[in-house]
Amino acid sequence: MLTFVLSFPIVVQIGLLILSLAGGLKIYLELTKGVCNSTVQLTGKTVIITGANTGIGKETAIDLAKRGARIILACRDTKKGIAAKDDIVRHSGNDNVIVRYLDLASLPSVRNFATLILKSEQRLDILINNAGCIALEKRLTADGLESQMQTNHFGHFLLTNLLLGLMIKSAPSRIINVSSNVYRWMKTLDLNNLNSELSYNNNSLYHGVYYTSKLCQILCTRHLAPLVNSSGVTVNSLCPGVVHTEIFRTTSSWFQMLAAFVLPIFFKTAKEGAQTSIYLAVADEVSDVTGEFFRDCKIEKTSRLASDTGLAKKVWELSESFVGLKPEERHY
Ligand SMILES: NC(=O)c1ccc[n+]([C@@H]2O[C@H](COP(=O)([O-])OP(=O)(O)OC[C@H]3O[C@@H](n4cnc5c(N)ncnc54)[C@H](OP(=O)(O)O)[C@@H]3O)[C@@H](O)[C@H]2O)c1
Ligand SMILES: *[C@@H]1O[C@H](CO)[C@@H](O)[C@H](O)[C@H]1NC(C)=O
Ligand SMILES: *[C@@H]1O[C@H](CO)[C@@H](O)[C@H](O)[C@H]1NC(C)=O
Ligand SMILES: *[C@@H]1O[C@H](CO)[C@@H](O)[C@H](O)[C@H]1NC(C)=O
Ligand SMILES: *[C@@H]1O[C@H](CO)[C@@H](O)[C@H](O)[C@H]1NC(C)=O
Repeated sequence: MLTFVLSFPIVVQIGLLILSLAGGLKIYLELTKGVCNSTVQLTGKTVIITGANTGIGKETAIDLAKRGARIILACRDTKKGIAAKDDIVRHSGNDNVIVRYLDLASLPSVRNFATLILKSEQRLDILINNAGCIALEKRLTADGLESQMQTNHFGHFLLTNLLLGLMIKSAPSRIINVSSNVYRWMKTLDLNNLNSELSYNNNSLYHGVYYTSKLCQILCTRHLAPLVNSSGVTVNSLCPGVVHTEIFRTTSSWFQMLAAFVLPIFFKTAKEGAQTSIYLAVADEVSDVTGEFFRDCKIEKTSRLASDTGLAKKVWELSESFVGLKPEERHY
């Protein structure tokens, strides 16, 4: 067989090698895809999912709605949110789904959203910090924060803190942070440049600020977990895998081409990408697990940087000051 292949022209040999490597990778990815098999029902429970109008968030919402929960879709575009709500109701047969306006890139919007939730909801059992974006150009929001760090990290940081009291009251409850394995690309974290004060890394092949925002999510998950452990609130972060969604719409043209033509073969569907979020939200076997990072429905050891509790504490404190969290807003 080998001698037969070796008799082919070299380009054909290389082509065959690439094809078999790709095939091997595809088989590996298929076999390691995590699937949530839990049949737990969520009747009487309330769930908030940020960025739930599309992609992973929407698929997560459909699954949790099927389990009977009250679902609050936190979206920055109410029109898109309502269209998604109609779909979610149709797919799940559960009409206890509502849309609330939330722009994570605005601290006043996060505060208004939280105030409304605290006034109108009796309980909050599951918070899924799912919304996220990638940006190439440095843009400061009206709050003076870099837009990507604010959407992915600072906005969710404030949101989580403001809703924590209600979650403690509703315990056992679960906070789930949709992060990403790309945090591993960050080998150091410059605390003086958390908000891109000194430099902005927008190399089109290396979305450094996005990676940093995902690292901060994991560090803050680590820091909060022990603080609320005795209150019955668990906090975990996760990587959904590489998923075919709209997230690549704002990446470099190079990335977008890759995402459009080459990678779809290896990508997960949004439904497959939602499995770890769903697993962390419902599975009985993780009811006491907290402060961990998951991928494909399994705990994964984080990098040395992401496991550094001293660094986590500093990022937490800096985040408090960036979002203007008041001492009386601490619920631990
Ligand atoms: N796809 C992947 O391969 C991958 C890999 C690792 C991690 N992730 C993470 O998975 C999460 C979900 O992403 P996805 O892949 O499902 O992407 P997506 O299809 O682009 O969905 C992102 C969602 O976030 C919302 N959003 C963006 N900025 C917002 C803001 N300022 N305020 C409120 N909502 C905002 C979007 O709303 P609009 O529709 O209004 O823009 C959208 O609903 C993200 O945290 C992402 O970082 C994805
Ligand atoms: C779900 O079931 C499949 C098939 O039995 C199994 O391989 C997988 O590990 C299960 N998922 C989890 C998260 O336990
Ligand atoms: C990087 O950001 C600068 C300043 O915001 C911008 O002028 C430049 O076009 C960006 N580079 C890329 C590759 O997007
Ligand atoms: C993730 O978890 C931490 C701790 O629970 C929280 O403060 C943070 O805001 C959460 N969300 C993000 C996106 O970091
Ligand atoms: C939470 O508390 C349990 C029981 O006291 C303990 O075993 C566990 O290590 C704690 N976890 C964290 C992250 O503090």
